[in-house]
Order: sequence, then structure tokens, then C-alpha cells
Amino acid sequence: MKICIVGASGKLGRYMVQHALDRGYEVVGVCRAQSVDKLDAFKDRMTIIPGATNDREVIRRAVAGCDGVLVVLVPWGIQQYASGTAQAVMDYAEPGARLVFSCGWHITRDGKDLYSRAFLTLVAVFGRVARLVRFAELDDQVEACRRIFASDTRWTVVRGSNLEEGESQGLPVWSRHVGDPVLASNITRRIDFALFMVAAVEDDSLVQEAPAIVGCQTPSALAHGNPSS
Ligand SMILES: NC(=O)c1ccc[n+]([C@@H]2O[C@H](COP(=O)([O-])OP(=O)(O)OC[C@H]3O[C@@H](n4cnc5c(N)ncnc54)[C@H](OP(=O)(O)O)[C@@H]3O)[C@@H](O)[C@H]2O)c1
Repeated sequence: MKICIVGASGKLGRYMVQHALDRGYEVVGVCRAQSVDKLDAFKDRMTIIPGATNDREVIRRAVAGCDGVLVVLVPWGIQQYASGTAQAVMDYAEPGARLVFSCGWHITRDGKDLYSRAFLTLVAVFGRVARLVRFAELDDQVEACRRIFASDTRWTVVRGSNLEEGESQGLPVWSRHVGDPVLASNITRRIDFALFMVAAVEDDSLVQEAPAIVGCQTPSALAHGNPSS
């Protein structure tokens, strides 16, 4: 199994690299040139392609021959970073490749997610301030996911809860809609978010699903099991 990790040098990305190597996968990683040394611990065991993740030529080279492409979908800057990355991956990935994208709970596929007022306020305030100071463009992550949902590729959009560091607790549980009781704890270890992303590559039940995930040892997961998977 050969996979490409787009955004490999970030916190989530490095956990994904580790999980993929643990499974014996051949790994290609894309990261910004200034971040290549963040992958020093893996450099003898993977191929690193430096470049902006929304650079179409970089993505074309990186995904060639890959059975799966895992993408850290980030909306940094005001330059269509997330949608540019997603579009390039969908355009250049091998036909039939598994495409697994990361985002947060704020992304909704069918409008049936139920958010708390506090969550909606946080997203609205962060979105406005981030755009004002040209730090990030949350709307572009929404646009990236809209394009993914509309595509006929073998995609999965993994929607992460709040994240924390810590040892792995195992594969997160998931549900189709934010607001479902199983997700109420709203916390996942980042290492387990990465585990879910990597495990999704070989899980056909997740094709064209947008699972919202939560840690499997959280109170809500223990109380309500896993209704959707
Ligand atoms: N943080 C949360 O609480 C949270 C919650 C739910 C879901 N998520 C999702 O999880 C994913 C990653 O989250 P994370 O918090 O774990 O972050 P992360 O893994 O540290 O990822 C940040 C990524 O953004 C890149 N990046 C940083 N500044 C950039 C810039 N100016 N231009 C282009 N790329 C830049 C980093 O690359 P470099 O290594 O080159 O800096 C890295 O690949 C995202 O899809 C996010 O939507 C996060």
C-alpha cells in the first residue's frame, strides 16, 4: 500500500506518518519547504516532497501511484489554500484511490448537524476575525468540502472534535451528525484522529461518508456506543 500525506509536517500529519509506517505502508509526504526538518525523525523511511500543498504540480507528482491520499485541510491565509489543495488532490489522484480529508465539526454535509449556540458563536467570531487579519479563511474550508461532497471519487471527510494531546486510547467512534449523544464529550486525542484517518484508507464502509468523531474512551462514547459504524 502506497499512500501520500498532504500536510505531513503538522501535528496531525506527523501522527499520520507514524501510523502509516507502523502499518508497513510506503509513505510520500508533502509539506512546506520551511517545514521539511519537522520530518527529520522519518526522513530515511519516507519520501518528502517540499512545496505548498495547493501547488498543483507538487500534488500531481506526490500522488502518482498512490492507493490513498490523506489530506490535512487547513484554511490558512486568504489564497484558497484548502479548496486549492482539495481540488488538486481530486484532479490528480489515481482513479479509484481512497481520498481522506480532515476538517472540524463546523463542516456539515447535509445541514442536519445540530450545533450549540456557543459553538456557532465561536465559529462565527473566529471566522470573521481570522479573515479580517488575513490569518485564515474558514469559508474556503467549507468550499473545499462542498467540492469533495459533490465529487464521485472515493472520499471520506473526517470531522474532528476539539483535540488534545496524550497517549492513544484507540480508534475514535463516530456519528453522521454533530448533536448525536455519542459525540457530546467533544474531545479526541490528536493521535487518535490520525489513527482514524489512516484506518479509513482500508475501510470501504467510510467511502463517501463524513464521520464526526470523538474519543472512544470519552464519557459520551462509553455511554452511547457507536450508532453509525
Ligand atoms: N486544532 C483543532 O482543535 C482541530 C479541531 C478539529 C479539527 N481540526 C482539523 O485538524 C486538521 C489539523 O489540525 P491540527 O490542529 O492538528 O493542526 P496541524 O496538524 O498542526 O496542522 C497544521 C497544518 O497547517 C500547515 N500550516 C500552518 N501554517 C500554514 C500556512 N501559513 N500556510 C500553509 N499551511 C500552513 C502546517 O504545515 P507546516 O508544518 O508547514 O507549518 C500543518 O500541515 C485540520 O484539518 C483541522 O481542520 C483541528
